[in-house]
Parts: sequence; structure tokens; C-alpha cells
Amino acid sequence: MEDKKPLLEMVGISKSFPGVKALQDVNLKVHSGEVVALLGENGAGKSTLMKILSGVYKKDEGKVLIEGNEVDIQGIKHAESMGITIIHQELSVLPNLTVSENIFLGNEKFDKGTRRINKAWMRERSLGFLEQIGCNINPDTLVKDINVGEMQMIEIAKALTKNSGIIIMDEPTTALTDVETKNLFTVIRKLKEKGMAVIYISHRLDEIFQICDSITVLRDGKYVGDVETKSVTKDDLITMMVGRKLEEQFPYKEVDKTKTLLKVDNISLKDKVRNVSFEVKAGEILGIAGLMGAGRTELAKTIFGDYKKSSGEICIDGQKVSINSPKDAISHGVCYLSEDRKKEGLILGMSVRENMTISNLKSYENSLKRINKKAEKEEVDKYIKKLSVKTPHREQLIKNLSGGNQQKVILAKWLMLSPKILIIDEPTKGIDVGAKKEIYEVLNELKSAGKAVIMISSDMAEIIGVSDRVIVMHEGKLTGELKRDELTQENIMKYAVGI
Ligand SMILES: Nc1ncnc2c1ncn2[C@@H]1O[C@H](COP(=O)(O)OP(=O)(O)OP(=O)(O)O)[C@@H](O)[C@H]1O
Ligand SMILES: [Mg+2]
Repeated sequence: MEDKKPLLEMVGISKSFPGVKALQDVNLKVHSGEVVALLGENGAGKSTLMKILSGVYKKDEGKVLIEGNEVDIQGIKHAESMGITIIHQELSVLPNLTVSENIFLGNEKFDKGTRRINKAWMRERSLGFLEQIGCNINPDTLVKDINVGEMQMIEIAKALTKNSGIIIMDEPTTALTDVETKNLFTVIRKLKEKGMAVIYISHRLDEIFQICDSITVLRDGKYVGDVETKSVTKDDLITMMVGRKLEEQFPYKEVDKTKTLLKVDNISLKDKVRNVSFEVKAGEILGIAGLMGAGRTELAKTIFGDYKKSSGEICIDGQKVSINSPKDAISHGVCYLSEDRKKEGLILGMSVRENMTISNLKSYENSLKRINKKAEKEEVDKYIKKLSVKTPHREQLIKNLSGGNQQKVILAKWLMLSPKILIIDEPTKGIDVGAKKEIYEVLNELKSAGKAVIMISSDMAEIIGVSDRVIVMHEGKLTGELKRDELTQENIMKYAVGI
């Protein structure tokens, strides 16, 4: 590959934010028709580098060359005019507009005479772009009525309208099902055939091996190196990313299981959850597996009182309880960490400290109802350290943290409530391999402290590696239960597809 002139080269890029050196002397090379992975731990600088390339941020130092010519990227529109488009970690489609209105957002076609938006033209062109990526969605559909996978396709179609030569995808698959991910890869291969280049960010190493030609690794804002995918192993990549070998990705700990902490009896939520019964013991991590849409999140939210159950009973510590709201659930020691942490968990305008302690301020009150600030700060610092949250200090606004580090803050917030029963939905989505292990250690600690953990996860390796026992759901029903020594991918899949 070295003999061909790169389509894009970033050389010696540096960027600082107050208190943070986000990038230091970073290089990146991308050729036409190539998919390049950008890999690194949470906070390594991946999104920042891509925001510089796409004109969102200005670099402090370094050079950007397109086909060998140095360019000075002035802003997003300017980057787009040079053929660079970014699809951000959070999608930016507008739910109340149609598919074609979204595709041409900011690029609308106006009639010369009437100065009205020419919807028919946009519709027609949208069909063409969608067809190019093999997506047969109706351009008149409102975006709120389509699924996340399709929204992703719209973002790509939008990039095509801008004549992009380089499309940046920042963690595109975190919210996608396996089928949608496959579709996305088919589209990426089509883009490659057209000679376009894709820069692909993901924490899922399997995906990187499937779709990327080469990999550039960053660590702590610094360039570690670039390698061809076919010449490395997963372990090589992990070592490059975290700077050391990562033994035992799934630390497991056998703990004496004592009394039953949670008993769920015949719970239903209309047709979403159907007559589900199970128990979790103190000292146990119960995994809930299933395909997307199997009703796992609905089950969790029903137990947590977010949804009103249509039938069934819940017992905690042997006592029948009535849970009609999350507040009730929390008062009984049940916490639920949502899979959609961005939407349900974060307050962007607040600091790391405030986000961590907002649900728990009462526990720092003294007898005069004053907050014991010192205790609060100590607790926050403890969790920053425990989960290695990358932030210059506890007062940093959470919106300035990287995606994965924001996730860790929300996790800390729930852990601080020291729940008796913690329900945790896709706990490591968007989390790097090193930090994943830290989270598993925390779950093991809860286990040892006699708490119960219920972990919903679509990551097979994780559910097999971490759980003491797994129950599997299919179309709202429990279809199977597996003990730790029965946990294999085949056994789980068998129940997950409902046979
Ligand atoms: N606007 C900002 N203000 C202050 N600090 C920032 C800002 N944007 C990013 N940072 C910091 O720069 C560093 C790199 O962040 P970046 O978002 O690029 O990481 P990342 O590699 O994309 O991580 P993740 O995998 O978690 O998404 C982090 O320490 C982050 O807190
Ligand atoms: Mg990021």
C-alpha cells in the first residue's frame, strides 16, 4: 500500500483543550477504496482527530494533506466541499422530517421561480442515493418511524449527496442489531468499490477484523502506529491500545450464593413481556440474553417500575413489594442502568461531580440538611479512580468527556446508590477493552458484597464470561436457563431464536 499516494494524510496533529492534551503529534494515512480503523481506549482522541478532519474543531498544530496538497480546513462546510463527511457518535437526523428532507438537510433544492423547496426533485434524488446503497426505504417516511439502522443509512445517503470521498463513521454500530450491522458492512463494501474511503471507529475488534483494511492505533492522544489488519491478532491490537498485555479479559469469581434477593413471578407487560418468572440470589450475576427486541429491556423497565406491569408479582428479600415507579424501586434497593444512557442518564450542562451525585445527594446531608461537600467530593474522586474516568478534574462539564467516559460517569452514579439489586442494560456499550475489565471487577465486587446483579447484554463473550447463570428470552418469553458450566454460544443462540 505504501507505494500508492494516500488520498488523505494527517501529519503531526496536536490539539489541546483547557487542562487536556487531547492529541499530540498524531498521524493518519488513508488511501482511496480503503477502510481504515481508528482504534484506542476511551478518551484516546479518536473523535477529536475526526472532528478536526471534518472541520468541527481547529487543530493547534500539524498538517492535513489531500492527494498530497496541504489544506487548511476552515469549518464543516469547507470540509464537506473537499469531500469529507462525518457521521457522529450521536446521529443527527431530525425525527419530524421525512427521509428525503433529512438527506438534503442544509442542501435543499429551491425552485428558481417560486423559491419554494422542490420536494419532488429531492425525493427523486433521494431514491437514487438510497438505491446506490441498496436501501429500499420510502423517502416520504418520517424519520421518527424508522429504526436506528435505517437512520444510519440515511446519514450515509446524506454523505453521498455531498459527493464525499471520505466518510468518517464514529462508532456506527453501537445501537445496531446484528442484521443491521451486516447491512452496514455491505454498504461499506459498496462505498469501497466506488473508490471511496471510510474511517471507521469502533471498540468491537471483531468488526474491525471483518471490515477494515488497516488500523491506526492511538493511546492517550498519541500515535502508536498503523498496521495492516491481516498482519495482526486481537491480542496485538489490545497490547497496542492499552500499552500492556491484558490477561484474563473476563475476571470471574465464585461467591457463595445465599438468600434469594429478587423473585419475579409471572410478570407480563402486554404482549412485550409474557409470564416471566425468575429468581436472583445474593452473590450472583444473572445474565439475560436474547436477540434485540426479545423484550429484555422491557422486562427490566417493568421490574424497575418504568412501565406498569399488566400482571405478576415481585418479591424482594422474601417480601412482596409494590413497585409503581422508579422511585419505589430505588427505595427497595433496585437500580436500573438504562442502555440508552445518553438519553436517560446524562445532564450535559452539569459537571462530572453533579452527574454522579445528583440522585444521591441526600446521603451526604448532615443533621442540619446541609450537604457534606467534602464527603461528596471524596466519593466522586473514588469513583473517578475506580473506573479510570478520563477527566482533568471532577468539575469538568460532562459534555467535554469522551463518549466512553460519559458512560462510566453514569455507571458510577448508580453504583454510588449501592443498590441491593442492580439491573444493568448493555453495561459496556461504547467502552474500551481495558475499561470493560474494570467494570466486570466492579460487578464482581458487588457480588462479593452480597448484592445481586442482573446483566442484560448482547455481547456473547461478555455474557458467557461474566454471568453465574443466564436466562434467555425470545419474543417476550423466557425460553431457557443455563448454568455457568452450560454456557456456550450455541446453547444461548438455540434459546434466543426460540427453538
Ligand atoms: N470540547 C472538549 N473540551 C474539553 N475536553 C475535550 C473536549 N473534547 C474532547 N475532550 C477531551 O479530549 C480527550 C479525547 O477525547 P475523544 O472524545 O477524542 O476520545 P475518544 O477516543 O473518541 O474516546 P471514546 O472511545 O470514549 O469515544 C478526552 O480526554 C476528552 O475528555
Ligand atoms: Mg469518541
